Amino acid sequence: MNKPQSLRRQLLSKLTLPLVFVVLLGAGSSYFVAMHYTDLAYDRWLLDSAKSLAQEVHAKQNHVTFDLPPIAVEVFRWDDVDKTFFKVESQGEGFMAGDADLPSPALASLKNNEPLFSNGEIDGHEVRIVSVLTRPMPSSESVLVSVAETLNKRYSMMTEILLAVLLPQVLLLFITGFHVWTGVKRGLRPLNDLAGHLAERSARDFNPILDADVPLEVRSLTHTINDLLQRLGSTLITQQRFIENAAHQLRTPLAGLKLQAERALGADSPEAMKAALWHIKHAADRVAHLSTQLLVLARSEAVSQSAPEFKAVDLVKLARESCMDWAPRGLDRDIELGFDAPDAAVKVAGDEVLLRELLSNLLDNAICYGNSGGHISVSVQPSPQAALIVEDDGPGISASEQEKIFERFYRVQGSQGEGCGLGLAIVKEIADLHAARLAVTSDGTTGTRFQIVFGAE
Ligand SMILES: Nc1ncnc2c1ncn2[C@@H]1O[C@H](COP(=O)(O)OP(=O)(O)O)[C@@H](O)[C@H]1O
Ligand SMILES: [Mg+2]
Repeated sequence: MNKPQSLRRQLLSKLTLPLVFVVLLGAGSSYFVAMHYTDLAYDRWLLDSAKSLAQEVHAKQNHVTFDLPPIAVEVFRWDDVDKTFFKVESQGEGFMAGDADLPSPALASLKNNEPLFSNGEIDGHEVRIVSVLTRPMPSSESVLVSVAETLNKRYSMMTEILLAVLLPQVLLLFITGFHVWTGVKRGLRPLNDLAGHLAERSARDFNPILDADVPLEVRSLTHTINDLLQRLGSTLITQQRFIENAAHQLRTPLAGLKLQAERALGADSPEAMKAALWHIKHAADRVAHLSTQLLVLARSEAVSQSAPEFKAVDLVKLARESCMDWAPRGLDRDIELGFDAPDAAVKVAGDEVLLRELLSNLLDNAICYGNSGGHISVSVQPSPQAALIVEDDGPGISASEQEKIFERFYRVQGSQGEGCGLGLAIVKEIADLHAARLAVTSDGTTGTRFQIVFGAE
């Protein structure tokens, strides 16, 4: 099973992660920008120092000298944060003054007046070095003057710039993060409120959730819940009505049973007792029939509520067997049962027990309400429009009644027989379960035709 995803966590991460990413990117670029401008500023200063030293290189009779009094050297070197180094060397004379250990570039690598910046190390200190070339007149000899400085000032300046740029950004991140967090919490509150509201509802409260109580985005959810509530509400009402009807239907034969039993007990002749017992049997038959019908309805409802497991059912075999079962009942009323079906099997996906029940109810009605001495025909039509048809030549059903006969417990007034008005409701329920089309045709005077058309298998 998938781990349930937290909407809040998703929103928070989707909103905060890009923010953190932007701040990190900002920090990275600030670092390089700070480094660049710090270097630029201090390099310029270093270059000035190198140039001022280069001015102290003089030429005397074809011979270059560098004269800087020790006090001037001390002033030059004085710096309370960084250490400064320098080195003067010439082509001919080699090292002339300063720190001999200072690494310097090869003379040839310097183009005339262009200073050369490099990084190096002296006495274990990392330094930035600038080298300039000077050629004191009238001598033609080149003198290389290099000045180096440790990086402390640069580092502290970079840190200052970075802090100045980053601190507000981090602060901004926290403020925005806080607002995102509270915003998401507040945004999700209607969902929590809705859950609380639903949890507090009574199990019989099917009133819709009002649009005014929920934000726009949640309405599609509440509309679906409202739909469900409405359907549940009407199912409950239908079921309640059904139970009331069933109880009412049972009460009549049971009251008859009681009355006849009392009569039988008080009978003073065997004939009177026998008559009462016949009535008892009659009432017991009605109760038995009613309970069977109720069970069939309950069963087909249960099947329709769980995903039905249909198997291939042969309509020809089913119809033939049903006809054989019902033929004796037909003969009792002098009704002939005809059967017409293709030779080959006509298979549909279905529940065999329920389909048999469907056909039984149609045959029961046709025999019960058909004219004695009449004819009933049961036919099966082949696929793809596989269909079951039960037709009789009885009194028919008027158009106004045709709409009502499929309702539960509905009987046409004055109908004979032991029915309780559930037969055709069962037929409809089973047809619906099989996604079959159920149609009744009758001109209201002679004959009724019930047709159930199944979808192609
Ligand atoms: N083949 C038929 N011919 C005439 N009327 C019929 C036929 N089938 C059903 N009906 C009418 O439809 C009504 C409902 O049928 P049904 O639901 O089976 O209930 P029940 O048979 O218990 O009365 C019956 O009362 C009857 O009047
Ligand atoms: Mg019936």
